Amino acid sequence: MKLTAGQLQRFDREGYLFFPDHFRPEEIKVLIDEVPSLYAQRRPENVREKGSDAVRTNFAAHLYSYPFARLARHPRMVEPVSQVFGEPVYMHQFKINGKMAFDGDVWQWHQDYGTWKNDDDMPEARAMNVAIFLDEVNEFNGPLMFIPGSHKLGVIDAEHDTSTTSYPLWTISHDTISKLVARGGIVAPKGSAGSMILFHSCLVHASSSNLSPWNRISVYLSLCAVSNHIRRFKRPEYIAHRDFTPIECLPDDCLLRDYPVALPWRNGTPPEALRAELAA
Ligand code: SIN
Ligand code: MN
Repeated sequence: MKLTAGQLQRFDREGYLFFPDHFRPEEIKVLIDEVPSLYAQRRPENVREKGSDAVRTNFAAHLYSYPFARLARHPRMVEPVSQVFGEPVYMHQFKINGKMAFDGDVWQWHQDYGTWKNDDDMPEARAMNVAIFLDEVNEFNGPLMFIPGSHKLGVIDAEHDTSTTSYPLWTISHDTISKLVARGGIVAPKGSAGSMILFHSCLVHASSSNLSPWNRISVYLSLCAVSNHIRRFKRPEYIAHRDFTPIECLPDDCLLRDYPVALPWRNGTPPEALRAELAA
């Protein structure tokens, strides 16, 4: 799948592109049916919400689940990203965020590249975030919010917040957010399960809690240009991957047919992938 010149211009201007109904219901069913068994596992890749057993985020399922291993190689997702960077990409991070009904907690305002630069020594903001909705996203279940155009500002000062939620994050001050919103406003793309968003790694984003009775399970994939791979292995590998092999796409029907894929972590996470502070 190729982006048009108009889409590329829009991405450059606003920092994101929204593709409603990009995957079909039968394709999404294969993925969402797999989530309960992943979330039930007691493994370090499942980060639970503060004070609850609900899963906030599940890391690296593409290394131990067949449907997600195929999604990680899907041409409708990978090809537009390598087109933007003009080179092959590898998987920097893979997560399935729960934002479960009633329990799903906030994600404070942040940029992802700030973390990738500070923690992982990623040289440039040449990595793309992709969100794929496995549930409908509506105004009640904590849609992702963006400040359009904020990616043009590069890395913005942030504070390391280790207490608000169960997952530490470099967050941007309310004063800065107020100024950015006065300039760019806020958008929150909403749509059916199967919709996809591509967003720039410097785009400022957040989401509020989910007080609705509807889960908002979405997959977030971060694809990095191969030449821009991380230089520092401070975080465990299940959070920031160290395998820079270019992704080879499967055919377009890969979610519906059993193409063979390797699942190296199927029998558990390798001990070295759990360790932080490994020399690069
Ligand atoms: C993220 O920013 O990584 C997640 C945001 C969300 O799930 O709403
Ligand atoms: Mn983020």
